[in-house]
Amino acid sequence: MNWKDIPRYRLANLPTQIEHLKNLSDKLNGPNIYLKRDDETGLAFGGNKVRKLEFIVADALEKKADVMITSGGIQTNHGRLTVAAAVKAGIKPVLVITNDAPEAYEGNLLLDKLLGAEIHFAYPDDEQLTQQEKHNRARILGEEKVEEIKKKYENEGKNVYIVPRGGRSIPGTLGYCLASLEIYQQMIESKNHMDYIVTSVGSSSTIGGLLIGKKLFNIDTKIIGISVSRPASEIKKLVLEQAESFINHYNLDIHVSEDDITVFDSYIGEGYAIPTEKGVQAIKTLSETESVFMDHIYTGKGMSGLIDLIEKDYFKDTDNVMFIHTGGSPALFSLDSIKI
Ligand SMILES: Cc1ncc(COP(=O)(O)O)c(C=O)c1O
Repeated sequence: MNWKDIPRYRLANLPTQIEHLKNLSDKLNGPNIYLKRDDETGLAFGGNKVRKLEFIVADALEKKADVMITSGGIQTNHGRLTVAAAVKAGIKPVLVITNDAPEAYEGNLLLDKLLGAEIHFAYPDDEQLTQQEKHNRARILGEEKVEEIKKKYENEGKNVYIVPRGGRSIPGTLGYCLASLEIYQQMIESKNHMDYIVTSVGSSSTIGGLLIGKKLFNIDTKIIGISVSRPASEIKKLVLEQAESFINHYNLDIHVSEDDITVFDSYIGEGYAIPTEKGVQAIKTLSETESVFMDHIYTGKGMSGLIDLIEKDYFKDTDNVMFIHTGGSPALFSLDSIKI
């Protein structure tokens, strides 16, 4: 693999800082907790997706894209950052939201609008369906909508680039593969070894990239995922598929097996984007101890998992445990339903 031949469109402020969360570590009286500030990657309120988008946008520019389409839920951070990255690169951003159109645009959706995205909504209006059935159906309708918009622009002679939900693609994987190298370099420079990295898991491409990077650069740090939506078995399957296609694409001499993947799926609560009591408590704890804002969809649930594991003595008191703040706090400004 020749890194210098891989196209990259710079969007992120890197390296992101690693902060020691002393107040939180003291409060929980367990391992040393560190925070990798990927919420401060810089572009349009930052987040993990910026790292992936550096390679996704470069790929789109190589393919001479005029239009970039992606989809996600109503508070999709991936959507906001894909739109922002497309704007920077001079590509027309189109976003398909797999929710009902809201009366007012808030949080990420407000930012999507400010960024000038063309926004579509795909949602079933069948009142007989349960919430979960509506959610599943909306995903299918969303895919159909993306195809319909793609055809429309292609008929106008435009080149259309589709970014999969969550940025889960080979170029996207490169972002977190290289993040693991960045973390490795920071560990060497600071002479401070991280025993564990903990991250929230949605589409699974962040943890997949980190695991591939760990193998590729031979990094002796365990990686733990906290699912915010999917069962652990599904995430393992997704990560193995992602690793296989990445390894084949670049013809790499590494292997990722199921034993390499540690994921907890007991912090999801009722489902994706539905706040949990422990997640909200984690948001409050991080704000009150460290002045760091997390969100109810991803990082709050992820942090609630880390706090629970610490309380259950999963780690040794001498361990260094680094949580990746993957961003997402704009979603806080859409919340009127959680009780603080
Ligand atoms: C703030 C935030 N954290 C974590 C994730 C999960 O990342 P991944 O989809 O790569 O698993 C996302 C995905 O949208 C996110 O927006």
